[in-house]
Amino acid sequence: MNNVDGVDIVYGLAWGDEGKGKVSSCMARDGNYDFVCRWAGGPNAGHTVYVDGEKFKTHHIPSGVFFGISSIIGPGCVINPKKFFEELDYLDSNGFNSKLVKVSPRAHIIQDHHVNDDKNLLAKKLGTTGNGIAPCYSDKAARIGLLAKDVLPPDFIWDEKLYGNILCEGAQGVWLDLDWGNYPWVTSSTTLPYAACSLGFSTSKIREIVGVVKSYDTRSGEDPIFPESLFEDPMLAKIGDVGEEFGVTTGRRRKVNWLNFDLLKKSVDITGPSQIIVNKVDILEEIGVYKLIEDGKIIDFKNWDDMSKYISEDLVQRGVHSIWFSRDQEEIM
Ligand code: IMP
Ligand code: MG
Repeated sequence: MNNVDGVDIVYGLAWGDEGKGKVSSCMARDGNYDFVCRWAGGPNAGHTVYVDGEKFKTHHIPSGVFFGISSIIGPGCVINPKKFFEELDYLDSNGFNSKLVKVSPRAHIIQDHHVNDDKNLLAKKLGTTGNGIAPCYSDKAARIGLLAKDVLPPDFIWDEKLYGNILCEGAQGVWLDLDWGNYPWVTSSTTLPYAACSLGFSTSKIREIVGVVKSYDTRSGEDPIFPESLFEDPMLAKIGDVGEEFGVTTGRRRKVNWLNFDLLKKSVDITGPSQIIVNKVDILEEIGVYKLIEDGKIIDFKNWDDMSKYISEDLVQRGVHSIWFSRDQEEIM
């Protein structure tokens, strides 16, 4: 029997870069979890975690390790062993215990030819992160992939046991999901919260489903929904500068647009969050412009109070119990 008491899931409601790292690290620090787990993606993800005001960056590794909690990389994830071990060294050299990190025996290994194919064939065409994600998941689906249990030393392999309270951290976001995103401008895994169950617990154990979004939208990488012309809008460019919208993984400048409320409503309907965190409210406040897109048109608000009420009223009707607005350096929840 598995003795899982309850599971909370954090995931992105947009195109990644919503600030999931901030939310999941606050929850990991305060939430009494026995495990913090990742269910999808790999080195394409970039999480920023703050510990006592100090900033740390991870790619494969769940934020639990920063708070002394066992951290699991699940069977739906892909691993680049060289980068993975570099991340473990980074943890150890910063005083964290990398032995808390375990990898599912079923996770797939990103091989050199995956990275080369991605860089040579896909990175330019689709604006991927160039980490070998699509070729690795292709080999997985074709059943010719390499498993973590056949490559990593046995002491890094998870025994597939879970118990107690579990926090699951999403990577990427709903609109990068292989099924629901704007294909082919997507990633190759299931970013939706239900996929957290691939870690090996039943849906009946799920407690809170916490969706994360920003007060404006951003997009790293190619996507016709975010045309290059967005860079020419001075107000959006200002949001990108003030909000420091540069990729953690790639260093690329992200495209910025006003919050697409049509798509946010759709992602909420598809995934059913019980709670939503809207991050980076302070960026709009600093610039003093409050807009969102609804029915394809831009709607203007006088202040954040008006805009947040407008958002909340709609989302509550869709079944969201709590909506939190968060600013830099501010505690969440
Ligand atoms: P891939 O996952 O490297 O194949 O990239 C596919 C698409 O997803 C590209 O548009 C990337 O920019 C985007 N992407 C992948 N991971 C992330 C992420 O963690 N944050 C934001 N965008 C991402
Ligand atoms: Mg990220």
